[in-house]
Amino acid sequence: MQEIKFYSGENIPLELHKTRIVQKLHLVPIERRLEALYEGGFNTFQLSTKDVFLDMLTDSGTNAMSDNQLAAMMQADDAYAGSQSFVRLQKAVVDVLGKQYLLPVHQGRAAENIISVAYVKKGSLVPMNYHFTTAMAHITDKGGQIVELLYDEAYVVNSSHPFKGNMNIEKLEEVIRYHTPKNIPFIRMEASTNLIGGQPFSVQNLRDVRTLADKYGIRLVLDCSLIGENAYLVLQREDEFKNSDMGTVIKTMTDLADLCYFSARKLSSSRGGGIATNSEEILKELEALVPLYEGFLTYGGMSVREIEAMSVGLYETLDETVISQSPGFIKYLVEELDKKGIPVIKPAGVLGAHLDAMQICAHIPQSQYPAGALAAALFLISGIRGMERGSISNQRDEYGNETYADMELLRLAVPRRVFTLSQIKFVEDRVNWLYDNREMIGGLKFTYEPPVLRFFMGKLEPVNDWPQKLMAKFKEDFGESL
Ligand SMILES: Cc1ncc(COP(=O)(O)O)c(C=O)c1O
Repeated sequence: MQEIKFYSGENIPLELHKTRIVQKLHLVPIERRLEALYEGGFNTFQLSTKDVFLDMLTDSGTNAMSDNQLAAMMQADDAYAGSQSFVRLQKAVVDVLGKQYLLPVHQGRAAENIISVAYVKKGSLVPMNYHFTTAMAHITDKGGQIVELLYDEAYVVNSSHPFKGNMNIEKLEEVIRYHTPKNIPFIRMEASTNLIGGQPFSVQNLRDVRTLADKYGIRLVLDCSLIGENAYLVLQREDEFKNSDMGTVIKTMTDLADLCYFSARKLSSSRGGGIATNSEEILKELEALVPLYEGFLTYGGMSVREIEAMSVGLYETLDETVISQSPGFIKYLVEELDKKGIPVIKPAGVLGAHLDAMQICAHIPQSQYPAGALAAALFLISGIRGMERGSISNQRDEYGNETYADMELLRLAVPRRVFTLSQIKFVEDRVNWLYDNREMIGGLKFTYEPPVLRFFMGKLEPVNDWPQKLMAKFKEDFGESL
């Protein structure tokens, strides 16, 4: 993409779109935010958007849609079977992902369910670069286990490694040999590895994984939910592709996988999801499960309007001006926070900026959930809703013991083309204030803990009155300001 320089020398991201539909936001007083936290059990998933100012919980289903996506939704072909909307989607999947067969599903985790039902059984082991919460939950639900095989560098917060999402190839071969290929139904690679800070893998690394998959006759499954962003960072960071384009990089990656699946909430700024393959054998193994769990094979639980938006969104994934906007804003935010010495995952990845709660809240033990506490504290002092990606997002082991996360992160998602630069500056300002007052943040404890995916529905409370004290300090410093 052509670089755009400012005469002033300022290095800020420039939006290559204009805003034509807007949504009003509310910044409610801090007293109300404190009440909302208690009502929501100090879990940002449990907050109501009427209390949220900047919703940085996720980019899933919250990216701005384009005028062309909205227009396409008006020409949807409503039919239970044989809809022309689905025909258009199939064509987009062939053109963008290079896969002939598409099984539609209602969102990414539905694809994970179907793949796990088909291939995972008790005793199965699925090696992956890193888990995603729902992928792991579906595999363990079917009696399987996962093993994460990133290189050590992936866990270094202050790093300049361009591909922290790379699979450790030596360890992968060891694991395959030790557990034997017959117990490994597939290897899973996740593009722009979400839970370690939206970090990409290189095409070369994926080729090396493919080589092992071929050597041992194991399927390679690619989670493509964030493949656009992974491809964008490959263009920036992998020499072989520096003069290439999004379409070529995406297809080079998807060609290496036997099966690609995705959450369209991310990939195509729409809703829905899909499983795509060129293998008739895989198609036959999975096909019957779609009508069972999702819906008929030409809608898979989605509305036809969503399907139309998804087709257009898939083509827009090839447009660097669309895909680069969120990573550009994230890079700006990460660099500004880093300049102030605030521990944040580096290099800047995709999806969002990731604050390192393990360092920021070093005084809070992991048993009191530092990332969850940081998420609650930031909401309290700013109305900014982030997402805990630490031990609360982990699940207990089979004996009921806590499994503490490798990283305690607060993710501040930057959905595509949603926020303005002044809003990002507000985030920077309030995170900075909180960092200066970080010793005042205290821990959390569960009051209600569901057995599966506890981070969604769980309720917690502060271990003491730290939120009240933090609020008092905020009022002292900001007076009547919201
Ligand atoms: C990498 C990745 N895979 C799978 C999923 C699950 O997708 P969904 O939320 O559509 O079920 C997500 C969701 O955020 C994701 O980030």
